[in-house]
Amino acid sequence: MANLNNSGEREQWGSKIGFILAAAGSAVGLGNLWKFPYMAGKNGGGAFVLVYFIILFLVGFTLMLAEIVLGRYTQLNAIGAYRKIGKKWAFVGALGVLAGFLILSFYSVVGGWVIAYLVKTLTGALNVTDAEVLGNMFGKLISGTTEPIFYHALFMVATFLIVLGGIGGGIEKSSKILMPGLFVMIIVLAIRSMTLPGAVEGIKYLLVPDFSKINIDVVLDALGQVFFSLSLGMGCMITYGSYLSKDSNIPESAVTIPLIDTGVALLAGLAVLPAVFAFGFEPSAGPGLIFITFPAVFAQMPFGTLFEIMFFILVLFAALSSSISLLEVCVAYVVDEWKMNRKVATVSLAFVIFLLGIPASLSFGPWAHITLLPGKGFFDTFDFISSNILLPLGGLLLCIVVGWIWGTDNAIKEATNEGQLEFKFAPFWAFLVKYVGPVAIGIVFIRSLLG
Ligand code: PHE
Ligand code: NA
Repeated sequence: MANLNNSGEREQWGSKIGFILAAAGSAVGLGNLWKFPYMAGKNGGGAFVLVYFIILFLVGFTLMLAEIVLGRYTQLNAIGAYRKIGKKWAFVGALGVLAGFLILSFYSVVGGWVIAYLVKTLTGALNVTDAEVLGNMFGKLISGTTEPIFYHALFMVATFLIVLGGIGGGIEKSSKILMPGLFVMIIVLAIRSMTLPGAVEGIKYLLVPDFSKINIDVVLDALGQVFFSLSLGMGCMITYGSYLSKDSNIPESAVTIPLIDTGVALLAGLAVLPAVFAFGFEPSAGPGLIFITFPAVFAQMPFGTLFEIMFFILVLFAALSSSISLLEVCVAYVVDEWKMNRKVATVSLAFVIFLLGIPASLSFGPWAHITLLPGKGFFDTFDFISSNILLPLGGLLLCIVVGWIWGTDNAIKEATNEGQLEFKFAPFWAFLVKYVGPVAIGIVFIRSLLG
């Protein structure tokens, strides 16, 4: 078995706060700092944020609880957990592993960009306020061949080294320093950004919904983003939940983790979008948004370079605390089901994922002309298939398995530690899992398939 300690028992989180921080570490990552601001920028700002919030309340909290409960009950990896509920549901876990595989391949490419920017900051190359210069610099990095692939490789190596070290001390300890640090940093940035001249437009853009901007594509993007950001729909929280002790407070964690994640995403939006308007960038600029706007903001601050170094280090740590959870889902599966040695599994999976990331990286440069889905190259296709299809599909099937196969009564019994904990919203939660989740996800899917 994969995750046993020296005395042959399954490893467990060291403390209650340790689990929350590790799970929040998985949730808080490039999804908040890099993807959320540009998805909001691309999808009409406030309109996207409004839809995001509705989906967060209807399915985000609900599925967070469902995954953690399923993991703690079964004490197994994603596939094993589904199989324990019913043999024929094991494929749901397998879909999750596939999603993790795909996500990590492009996630690591972006993680590589973060390392590259950290290096640029250290060498002073980023001390520029000119929007055009910063834009070109980013364009040059991502459209290259060896440079971005080299950094992508570095990020993958860092990821597998942590995973090789195991679950215990490493992840938990680093999260305790990292998460508060990131929080402080992002607040400082949001304040600086919001006090730039002309920033008000950006705040309005992010917070005032323009209902005419809402269409089915915006809704599908928001749905995918909720899953991506909360690390839901692929068994990640099942896996992390499986290391919880039986006296942990799941209902409380299932509220805290999404709140932390959403707080960081909103702060990131408030740090990026006002600066976008203040410096005259395009909010719909896409994946480059933070790499172009943040350096511009830092260049306008006293001790900017110092803050910038700290910031990219924190982004890198946030990205790593997520990428390790992605790799861990795949590793736990291969070790449990294929009986592969854990070290061999970790290194070979990381290598295959690295290879898969190469076309994703090249799709910003030499392979930009190759499209897999209409208008989407490798990177965008991997992102779309995993975030907008596999994760919501995994969430839909999770609702069915927990709500109807295992049953909400059993799930609530587990969530309340056999009735010892208070869980006021239990009946409401049951209603959300059984009906609202499947119907809402199903409708978005069918509508978006019909175009
Ligand atoms: N939630 C992470 C982020 O926001 C990404 C992630 C997705 C991690 C799925 C694990 C599983 O960056
Ligand atoms: Na996130």
